[in-house]
Amino acid sequence: MTKRLYIETVGCQMNVLDSELIVSGLIQVGYELVDSPSNADTILYNTCSVRQHAEDKIYSALGRLRPLKEQRPEAIIGVLGCMAQKDQANIFRRADHVDLVVGPGQFNRLPQILEEVAAQRHREPRMEISLDRMTEKRSDVEESFGKFDPPRPPELRASPHQAMVRIMFGCDKFCTYCIVPKVRGPEQSRTAADIEAEVRRLAADGCVEVLLLGQTVNSFKDTTEGKLLRLSDLLARLNEIDGLRRIKFVTNYPRHMSDDLLQAVRDLPKVSPYLHVPVQSGSNDQLKRMKRGYTVEYYREMVERIRATIPHVAISSDFIVGFCGETEEDFQKSIEIVRWARFKNSFIFKYSQRPGTKAADTMPDDVPDAVKRRRNNELLAVQNAICLEDSLALQGRELEVLVEGTSKSQQKRTSQSSEIPSNASSNTVQLVGRTVYDQIVVFDGPRTLAGQILPVRVEKVDAFTLFGRVASSGAAKT
Ligand code: SAH
Ligand code: SF4
Ligand code: F3S
Repeated sequence: MTKRLYIETVGCQMNVLDSELIVSGLIQVGYELVDSPSNADTILYNTCSVRQHAEDKIYSALGRLRPLKEQRPEAIIGVLGCMAQKDQANIFRRADHVDLVVGPGQFNRLPQILEEVAAQRHREPRMEISLDRMTEKRSDVEESFGKFDPPRPPELRASPHQAMVRIMFGCDKFCTYCIVPKVRGPEQSRTAADIEAEVRRLAADGCVEVLLLGQTVNSFKDTTEGKLLRLSDLLARLNEIDGLRRIKFVTNYPRHMSDDLLQAVRDLPKVSPYLHVPVQSGSNDQLKRMKRGYTVEYYREMVERIRATIPHVAISSDFIVGFCGETEEDFQKSIEIVRWARFKNSFIFKYSQRPGTKAADTMPDDVPDAVKRRRNNELLAVQNAICLEDSLALQGRELEVLVEGTSKSQQKRTSQSSEIPSNASSNTVQLVGRTVYDQIVVFDGPRTLAGQILPVRVEKVDAFTLFGRVASSGAAKT
């Protein structure tokens, strides 16, 4: 039997990485990736529960698969990831054509589970999820959230030059609005030795940039070597790896922004001076209701400490607007902190009540949607104005850019036309790359530049993109 696999992914970088690892594992046992459910024998959705919208999207996609399942009952439809862990058997009730529900703690067994489901003569709904951390013993729950970090053959990685590397699983913070600790399980760090071995392998395969992932990445700790190893120690080890050029990490939790980490970012040349440290709100009342564990004063002091330690650092944030009880005054304080901190970037979300969280159980979702929307737009406008000012200040400057590959518009142009692109005579295409601050830079050059770090002179900007040309001094450099 051919095993044609279609997979769709929503959610955060953890999910993108999980899907990458799932696909790589399944290709190794004979699956082939296809780009539409109608061509597939196995259709998987890797899901997110962080906001209602992400779940609605998946339930509608499942609804659209009903006719396909009626025509081809042997096709396997699977719901994976955070929503699988959250909704469990309710998924079969809402979509009875789903064959399989697999939580994020069970991914290492996915190839075997799929094989078993395919072999069944009379298909029963199959559910593989981890234990509920609200009712079971922590050690049992930890064990039930199996770690998932299989080796990736280089040819199966999404990009040959960049890779995401998980350094920890789960979250223990239980911010009152957030479903992640429940669906991703208890916080568990991988060992520094495992991570280092993985990054060494990646670098040997040609990877020049790693993005270390964790829900609270700066609370990483490893005690298996007889002493406490923190994120700063891990960064120091990774900094020594030959061939590796850049190290980034997300997401930082404000309370764990320790001085040793800031000094490591300052002193280790491969670590990007870019810190994503979400504040979520500029109001102490809101931070308390969110149970974030810090005050606005603490956060401001932390920003000052970061800027005093790391020259030319960029800081970015997340915000939730319209969380329970948010007054206009609270909201103005979020605007204030954006203006004060001049974040490089902010991801802004309207509060979405998540059943199973403390906020859903104890606090009314009392800000009307229209108000949430208005506040979202207002905060976004303030942030965007800062982004534009920052971009304009870069005009004429030369920036070090890691070339990622062809730009999206170039890809569209090439795929729409069966002919060779008009500027192909010189082999020049539109390329896209990133600075150490994660700024997107678009410029022309040959595809062969992918994976190199080059100086690019910025000629034109908008709020989110810098446009430029490879600086002549760097054209010959790799
Ligand atoms: N671990 C990370 C982020 C995890 S989720 C951290 O602590 O920063 C990514 C972002 O989604 C959060 O930072 C928060 O801004 C947002 N978010 C989480 N739960 C949400 C909810 N119920 N409604 C709206 N936004 C939410
Ligand atoms: Fe969610 Fe808070 Fe954990 Fe981030 S730190 S994943 S917002 S509970
Ligand atoms: Fe969503 Fe799960 Fe990530 S809930 S944000 S995919 S950890």
